[in-house]
Amino acid sequence: MISLPLPGILALTQASGTIRPGQPAVGSNCHGAKATNLTSILPLSIASAAASALGRARATRASRKAEISRRQKLLTLGNLAPVVMSNPAEAKTASSVGLGTCCLKGQASEDQVRASDGLEGVYEGLKIGYRLLDTASHYENEGNIADAIRRSGIPREDVFLITKIWFDDMGERAAPAFQESLKRLQTDYVDLLLIHFPGTNDAVQSPAANAKRRAETWRVLEEAKAAQQARSIGVANFTRRHLKQLLATCKESPEVMQTEVHPYFQQPELLELCRQKNLKIQAFSPLAHGELGLLNDRLLTGIAAKYQRSVAQVVLQWLLQQDITPIAFSGSPKNMMENFAVKDFSLTSQEMDRISFLDRGPNARVGFDPNLIA
Ligand SMILES: NC(=O)c1ccc[n+]([C@@H]2O[C@H](COP(=O)([O-])OP(=O)(O)OC[C@H]3O[C@@H](n4cnc5c(N)ncnc54)[C@H](OP(=O)(O)O)[C@@H]3O)[C@@H](O)[C@H]2O)c1
Repeated sequence: MISLPLPGILALTQASGTIRPGQPAVGSNCHGAKATNLTSILPLSIASAAASALGRARATRASRKAEISRRQKLLTLGNLAPVVMSNPAEAKTASSVGLGTCCLKGQASEDQVRASDGLEGVYEGLKIGYRLLDTASHYENEGNIADAIRRSGIPREDVFLITKIWFDDMGERAAPAFQESLKRLQTDYVDLLLIHFPGTNDAVQSPAANAKRRAETWRVLEEAKAAQQARSIGVANFTRRHLKQLLATCKESPEVMQTEVHPYFQQPELLELCRQKNLKIQAFSPLAHGELGLLNDRLLTGIAAKYQRSVAQVVLQWLLQQDITPIAFSGSPKNMMENFAVKDFSLTSQEMDRISFLDRGPNARVGFDPNLIA
């Protein structure tokens, strides 16, 4: 049995008021609770509750407004217009950078404004050329994504749409939860359906209970694929242990693993298993969520200078050259464009090797550690 979360995580989950104590703090946002700067990783309403619960400085109303207006400004493309339009068919494939959408929509009083954030961000992304969109029921923006696709005029079949089943919906709730996602997404199929997390580390969840919920949920994914409501199915945040267990019991094998990968956190053993078992790898938080100083790394900065590119582009290209699909988020049109425009340079094998030596192992994970899930 896995013990209760660390005190910080427990405090967070209680403070947010949306997650049962004892559940992983991934309930608080899509990146987990490891980062110490709460306001930088949580939706604003949750962040302020957590900050006050922890006795930290309160986010004032004024600073929240300023942050919202900053985000709105960032998300207005204006004259930057689409300079990076790529071949849409290509942008839909795994050899292109996907657009992350986590946390583009907030809660409570910010609903109005942040809902428009979600809409604008994805709409601008589609204008730039992104065709691979990563959402999840947990992000509470599936409706925004549907609106953005409709508004863009891009045919549904030109977009590769990913959604996920959240851990609260695993087991009996999985099938209705997926139907609700389809409804919000205003589509009759998704291109990829994932189990978002391998379970909970709730004290009442025994290892056997988690394994049962995973198996039940996987059956729902298999049925969704058979019914052509999910073109492909896979898992996110599974460790080698979770994946081996699933592979031993599934009828239909998972096709995709979405997991955290960036130069400081490379998970070579997990990726090796995925490749052996023919799972396509998607890297979330490919830029380390903008943390750890990754974007100022000396080696990466040097390589970026050589190609007259940004460090973010070097990192995304390093992933693509390993046949890993990066799912990157940006609230800035400039960065969104930059991240998408990575196809016209390539790294040498020596540079690829040198970047692989940047791996710092488990301590460089920026999201929640799924090893804590039984
Ligand atoms: N399956 C899961 O459990 C899971 C977990 C986490 C994330 N995800 C998915 O992965 C997506 C991306 O992950 P993420 O948001 O954690 O991290 P990320 O893409 O690694 O990093 C985003 C951060 O990097 C900055 N950034 C982006 N492009 C940049 C550039 N070109 N130059 C400088 N800074 C740049 C962004 O700032 P600006 O906004 O200022 O550009 C933002 O602060 C999420 O949106 C979500 O769709 C999935």
